[in-house]
Amino acid sequence: MDHRNEAPAFECRFLDDTCFDPLLETFCEAFSDYVLPFNMDATRFKNHLNLNAVDLNRSVGCFEQEQMVGFSLNGFGDWKGKTTVYDAGTGVIPNRRRRGASMAMFDFMVPVFRDAGIEQYLLEVITHNEPAVNLYKKLGFHIERELVFMEAKTLEQTRLNDEFELRKITAAELIRLKEFWDARPSWQNSNEAIERSEQLKTILGAFVDGECVGYAVFSTGRGRVAQFAVDNRFRGKGIGSRLLAQIRTEMQPDAAMRVINLDKSLTDTQHFFEARGFKQVLAQYEMILPLS
Ligand SMILES: CC(C)(COP(=O)(O)OP(=O)(O)OC[C@H]1O[C@@H](n2cnc3c(N)ncnc32)[C@H](O)[C@@H]1OP(=O)(O)O)[C@@H](O)C(=O)NCCC(=O)NCCS
Repeated sequence: MDHRNEAPAFECRFLDDTCFDPLLETFCEAFSDYVLPFNMDATRFKNHLNLNAVDLNRSVGCFEQEQMVGFSLNGFGDWKGKTTVYDAGTGVIPNRRRRGASMAMFDFMVPVFRDAGIEQYLLEVITHNEPAVNLYKKLGFHIERELVFMEAKTLEQTRLNDEFELRKITAAELIRLKEFWDARPSWQNSNEAIERSEQLKTILGAFVDGECVGYAVFSTGRGRVAQFAVDNRFRGKGIGSRLLAQIRTEMQPDAAMRVINLDKSLTDTQHFFEARGFKQVLAQYEMILPLS
């Protein structure tokens, strides 16, 4: 018996701004059973695209009889000195999974990006999202590092040092504070991402004698920490605890504080957050596929 007519007839093509509404609808359906439940609406989706530098003209939709059944959102920029495409979300609606739709999208777009001179593909994936981890491994991605996601409903109190001034600073001022980092922030927490989303962020600097010696970047009102660092020379003096306490007072009282994508190798930083009441909620792999 000939089964060829039952084979999925997926058509992959690049999207554009006119696809926003069907894309959002397909995104919500594809992530409806996601390992981490979340709410998405048009405003949040626009913020997600902007944060991650997504270009819809270079993002792919997978169609079956003109219905969008899958997508792969791509952001573009520089990562560790290489031109990079960043996977800001790949999804397929539940009843069209395991039929090769994701493989078809990558088969369609990877040669285009390679020919355009893009050097690597970057992404993060939740470590226990087995279908996605398998997909990316099958495509040839390798694990670069592990990132942890920590959360605290309430903050453990500690003695707070107030011998320094806390005040808001701008994203432009962050550039020179890179020297405080022990590890590179993830794509969505990078300085470039913070600049793109600055109107949704609060950046607090801690100053001693007019010099910035520590800072925190978090989503205004929501306490979702994107960057957090204290100058090596000023660690162990209560600056980090004071920054955290300030974030707590500036955010909605019922929201949990979250630290997203902390490099797992930073054990001292993890211990700092644990001492303040944070617990690891999940982990992600940062993965890379070299294209050149
Ligand atoms: C991950 C996801 C995008 C895969 O899409 P898909 O179209 O079903 O994947 P494909 O059919 O192209 O499968 C390609 C490969 O991925 C792996 N894979 C996909 N689904 C899998 C599953 N349920 N279990 C184990 N491996 C799986 C397999 O290696 C598979 O190859 P194989 O079928 O030859 O074994 C889909 O499960 C999904 O939308 N999940 C929810 C959203 C999500 O988690 N996205 C990823 C993070 S952004």
